[in-house]
Amino acid sequence: MTTASFEFSATPALMNASLVQRLHAHRERLFGAGLINLFRQDSQRFGRFSARAAGLLMDYSKNHLDANALADLMELARVAGLADAIQALFDGQPVNHTEGRMALHTALRLRDEELPPAVADAVLDTRRRLFAAVARIQSGEWKGYTGKRIDTIVNIGVGGSDLGPNMAVDALQSFHTGSLRFLFVSNVDPSHISRALRVCDPETTLFIVASKTFTTLETLANAQAARDWFVQRAGSESAVALHFAAVSVNVTATSRFGITPENVFPMWDWVGGRYSLWSSIGMSIALALGEDGFREFLDGARELDQHFRTAPFEQNLPVIMALLGVWHVNFVGCQSQAVICYDQNLAQFPAYLQQLDMESNGKGVQRNGQPVEWKTGAVLWGGVGTNTQHSFHQLLHQGTLIVPVDFIVGVRSQTPVAEQQADLYANCLAQSQALMQGRCLAEVQQEMQAKGVDSAQIGRVAPHRVIAGNKPSTTLVYETLTPRILGALIALYEHKVFVQSVIWNINPFDQWGVELGKQLSGEITSILKAGSTDPRLDGSTQGLIDFFNVS
Ligand code: F6P
Repeated sequence: MTTASFEFSATPALMNASLVQRLHAHRERLFGAGLINLFRQDSQRFGRFSARAAGLLMDYSKNHLDANALADLMELARVAGLADAIQALFDGQPVNHTEGRMALHTALRLRDEELPPAVADAVLDTRRRLFAAVARIQSGEWKGYTGKRIDTIVNIGVGGSDLGPNMAVDALQSFHTGSLRFLFVSNVDPSHISRALRVCDPETTLFIVASKTFTTLETLANAQAARDWFVQRAGSESAVALHFAAVSVNVTATSRFGITPENVFPMWDWVGGRYSLWSSIGMSIALALGEDGFREFLDGARELDQHFRTAPFEQNLPVIMALLGVWHVNFVGCQSQAVICYDQNLAQFPAYLQQLDMESNGKGVQRNGQPVEWKTGAVLWGGVGTNTQHSFHQLLHQGTLIVPVDFIVGVRSQTPVAEQQADLYANCLAQSQALMQGRCLAEVQQEMQAKGVDSAQIGRVAPHRVIAGNKPSTTLVYETLTPRILGALIALYEHKVFVQSVIWNINPFDQWGVELGKQLSGEITSILKAGSTDPRLDGSTQGLIDFFNVS
């Protein structure tokens, strides 16, 4: 493993004082001008500040940008050495320098004939085996221990081995080609596995134990519980071979767990957990969509990859999106980014993005080991509209924080009902419009007067009804959420995260921060299970352990 510095640019972009100063000046000017006025001044604004690729339209005109500010943001990307960084990523250089690894998830989206020699044999062989298993399970040729076909898949994994597959299987329900039912178990909370097992039939259930490392506590505990449950009901250890598969780098551990080698589908250390749904970790997605559907999903991401590699920065969706994020974090002072999907099928997309974005860019050390001197990743959160309108939009409209929003919406529903899609689309547009234009005191007063409200009441209530507006948002639109579009959408956010990491000069592919909690939980678990105590513990932890032991 090498820990050598792997930098794309000699000086971090955010240390370029004159550029940073210019961007701060743009921020003052543009927030002062007001978003709605930027539209009034430029009838072509939508055309100038929107871009398309891979079936996605990105309207970023409702952000505080003009040609000069955008040019300076692009300059930030150039100063950061973004072009070299993109090249290094796709070329399979060890961009994950703290672990001495490539981050070659983009290769997994390539068509068979395009795979680079370094990984071609491994990927092709795995694809062949995976798709063969998918076909056997979907067709019913893969039989359980009593000869019945498999009808339920339980994916046991956590983090990247759960969030992506879970989200994609749910998002693409209309494209499922078989009749399999999917359950996802991730939490070490025993309620999670118990709930799943309660509705499973051992004769017809296949468990996929998905873990890159095969050392993750949650996954191993849940897999063991599932195995015990299964063996008890099947009455035989040998039946495990028909009902357990695994996806992992760690083949020694999968065989120690008792999974037959034919049912182990490899992945590789050059695929990060949160970038792994394109690999065998996406087995449940392949089982849901079939080989053709899964290849479509990969193809959507591939198309976005090609766009990212070749489009000029000024028309490059991930680059623009990333720069907007940098603009909001480093120049506007925003601490969070909301993603609101006006597509029920994307209900799990924000949770998936949380790991992708926050585990990648939640870093405070530059690539060269020095602490960063600027803010990095924002808190990503969100939900599904219109539901969110009735929960947290109040804060977006009248709260004191500026929260940039990504709205995501489709033109056509996967499952149309009357004209409800127009209602949905209209609500999405209305929210971004309301955030931008707000409502001033005079308007509120006029409206109340027109309704015959007396002036004393107007005086009391009107200030509460004022909405400041001038709040930024970006809207991503596609025709219908298909496997292809979902692939492109995910790749867009992956590359956005990468571009931001380059500008912030951090490594987005490691996650050392999660290790300490894992280590400490191991120590506390030993104490809890032994019913003992440790005088070196802090008083709070000790008190909480005591409460567990005496309850
Ligand atoms: O939470 C840390 C993490 O390592 C994630 O990066 C990863 O996706 C998850 O745990 C699961 O890891 P594994 O697939 O090795 O079980």
